[in-house]
Amino acid sequence: MIPVDSTGVPISELATKSGIPENRLIHLIRQLTAINLFRETSPRHFAHTTSSAILTDPDFSNTVDLMTHFLDEGYKCAGYLPEALEKWAHKFDTVQKSELRTAFNLAFNTDSHYFDWIYTPENIPKYGDRFGRSMMGGARHWVIEATLKTYDWSVFEEGDKIVDVGGGVGHVGVAVAKRVKPGVKIIVQDRPSVVEQGKGIHGHIVELQPHNFFEEQPIKGAKVYYLRLILHDWPDEVCRTILKNIIPAMSSESKLLILDGVWKEDEYWVNGDSDMEIVEHWDAIKQHHGFRTLHMMNKLGIDSRNVSDFRR
Ligand SMILES: C[S@@+](CC[C@H](N)C(=O)[O-])C[C@H]1O[C@@H](n2cnc3c(N)ncnc32)[C@H](O)[C@@H]1O
Repeated sequence: MIPVDSTGVPISELATKSGIPENRLIHLIRQLTAINLFRETSPRHFAHTTSSAILTDPDFSNTVDLMTHFLDEGYKCAGYLPEALEKWAHKFDTVQKSELRTAFNLAFNTDSHYFDWIYTPENIPKYGDRFGRSMMGGARHWVIEATLKTYDWSVFEEGDKIVDVGGGVGHVGVAVAKRVKPGVKIIVQDRPSVVEQGKGIHGHIVELQPHNFFEEQPIKGAKVYYLRLILHDWPDEVCRTILKNIIPAMSSESKLLILDGVWKEDEYWVNGDSDMEIVEHWDAIKQHHGFRTLHMMNKLGIDSRNVSDFRR
């Protein structure tokens, strides 16, 4: 509603276009100006800042989906953290199915796991599909680069198979497809609605197959089973199940490839012990991990015990 080159759109016009009454919208947008999203160029007229303008770039559209995922599900979950702690914190370590005792379950008033909930027919359009797009948005910054940099995908021969387990809409699979020799097959597996979504975007480049990783892996003898940003979503016991389901499919030449965050507990927390140190040692990556870890705890019931056990 605010063109990037505009010197200021009147709030009355934004109110009409957004359907939000002017005297409410003005408070929202002024609050955003305080964090450098939009500026009030003259009283009640709003234009872009560099930060808000970036969000209009079509190239960033999936990054906006990622932000919306954090700001919508994530923010609502955060609001229920106190209740979740009060209800379950004392038994987090012993509770069965910690992934179903989360702030998410309280915020969205459901007994379902997050990934079951977003993929119900009524939630797919708003939440499930957005999650698929948001993973594309997240991957464009470093996941694709890390995938290509850390593994030599050119070693495989025609007829070899690479399985991207829980590979989302195939956004990383298509990048790998550019690195492999002709005839190497890339199969991206995910939940049925994600596969349908992915077919529409990347189906002409990679094969997408519905597969539930809580069941035995159907593709036998692939050269690589790639689990990228999958295990961090689940407590240890569940990770074991996911991994065990791949073992029967593996041949002696199969490799299990994992790309995920590794928890460095002590190092991670050293943000400094004085105000000055905290300011000087401020580190965007640490901040991001802290934020993401809370998001995972709230949404999926993951904590550092899960992660450090997993590392062992
Ligand atoms: C954090 S995302 C990572 C997606 C992708 N691997 C990437 O690197 O962007 C986790 C993925 O696991 C998928 N997933 C969740 N439960 C699953 C299940 N039971 N079987 C297969 N995929 C599942 C989700 O749909 C989602 O695409």
